[in-house]
Amino acid sequence: MDLRLRLTIMRNFTKIFIMRIDIIAIFPEMFQGPFTESIIKRAVNKGIVDIQLHNLRDYSTDKHKKVDDYPFSAGAGMVMMIEPVDNCITHLKSQRDYDEVIYMSPDGELLNQPLCNRLSLKENLIILCGHYKGIDERIREHLVTMEVSIGDYVLSGGELGAAVLVDSLVRLIPGSIGDEESALSDSFQDGLVSPPVYTRPRNYKGWEVPEILLSGNDKLINDWKLEQSYLRTKERRPKMYEMLKKNV
Ligand code: ADE
Repeated sequence: MDLRLRLTIMRNFTKIFIMRIDIIAIFPEMFQGPFTESIIKRAVNKGIVDIQLHNLRDYSTDKHKKVDDYPFSAGAGMVMMIEPVDNCITHLKSQRDYDEVIYMSPDGELLNQPLCNRLSLKENLIILCGHYKGIDERIREHLVTMEVSIGDYVLSGGELGAAVLVDSLVRLIPGSIGDEESALSDSFQDGLVSPPVYTRPRNYKGWEVPEILLSGNDKLINDWKLEQSYLRTKERRPKMYEMLKKNV
């Protein structure tokens, strides 16, 4: 469903949309900072998102709570074992249906605004954070439904990527941001990057705010903002700009 349509429906029927996100990780404490501040904190407190952290070690049947083992083939690094992951996912699935089981991986689908929009419409998500050299491939084949990367670089684990993904989704849930329209006018939302913004003072050390923004003429200001967005998109995201031109 289109994001604007969803927002309209939410407003008209005042239905409370609750998204549930279950995160499976070896280092769940890593989410303490990102999830206890700002927009995510407010959304959790308002009850519009329910984020549950699961320590993978709690699902290990090994007496040392082991969750990794040596790879079958030669090669450096440990591999995340299938059994604890399967135990955790099976336990969660026994409680509710999930729309996606997402594995955070550097070779997953690259996270961008259209993907955020798509995932923000889901109700129940599981996010699995990898570590070590990777996860047993059978987890990817049989348990995971999609893989997401936050960029073409390798992190030490999936936790930071999962925090980025959750932040990008939560800000799109109606009610998480004071003015819902502001999420719609974010950079990339219309295939354009945002125009520059200014605040007081009008003149700081001789650095002036563009005169047009002080004109009070809404039409001129909106035209200027759009023009700036186009110029910035052309300069900073040339591929996105080409796509825009094709779609006009
Ligand atoms: N885990 C390691 N690197 C990652 C990346 N770039 N995106 C998502 N998860 C990851």
